[in-house]
Amino acid sequence: MRAFLGIGLPPGVREAIASSTANVRGLHAPVAWTAPANLHITLGFLGEISPERIALVERAMRVVASGIGPFSLTAEGGGVFPGTRNPRILWVGFLEPLELVRQLQQNMTNALSGAGFPLEDRPFHPHITVGRIRGALPPAWGERFVQALSGKGFGVVPVSSFTLFESRLGPGGAAYTPLCDFRLEGAGKREIREEKEP
Ligand code: 2AM
Repeated sequence: MRAFLGIGLPPGVREAIASSTANVRGLHAPVAWTAPANLHITLGFLGEISPERIALVERAMRVVASGIGPFSLTAEGGGVFPGTRNPRILWVGFLEPLELVRQLQQNMTNALSGAGFPLEDRPFHPHITVGRIRGALPPAWGERFVQALSGKGFGVVPVSSFTLFESRLGPGGAAYTPLCDFRLEGAGKREIREEKEP
């Protein structure tokens, strides 16, 4: 099966993204927009993996989840990968602080590589993919997309767990099925710990 690890989004955040991108969809371009139900944050892409090896991943992920406590992320603004000159991926981003999600992703990468699943070694940019470019875009379309989302808030994503998803690719797009949730059970929220410090 094809699988990845990620963070699901609350309905309010998915709806806010869908309604904000509705204006941009009116700009008519060859974009495969992500279905609102599919919006998520990818932490690690496993690719094709046998059901037997899934058990190894689950064991490693339980250890990762025991080391980090719940946190939250604020979704705001957007951008394009790799850049506005040649957009391929359209995304919604997050405000700082991002230390905890970075730590979670780093611990996950380390644990997966220790368990024999090396992930691609590329910098982690936490984001929500909202669309994929499928053809030639009008000039400056990337800048207009970024401008349209600039300063727009999409709400808070409380992260109390992360999820192993199966991804099935079909003619109507991808279908993601949650296979296993890993509750974050490390020390409490960073803010709370800091409040307690003298
Ligand atoms: P992204 O779009 O959030 O960056 C499920 O397919 C998710 O896995 C996608 O949303 C995508 O993340 C990520 N993904 C898909 N194919 C990938 C690949 N070949 N390498 C890395 N990540 C991939």
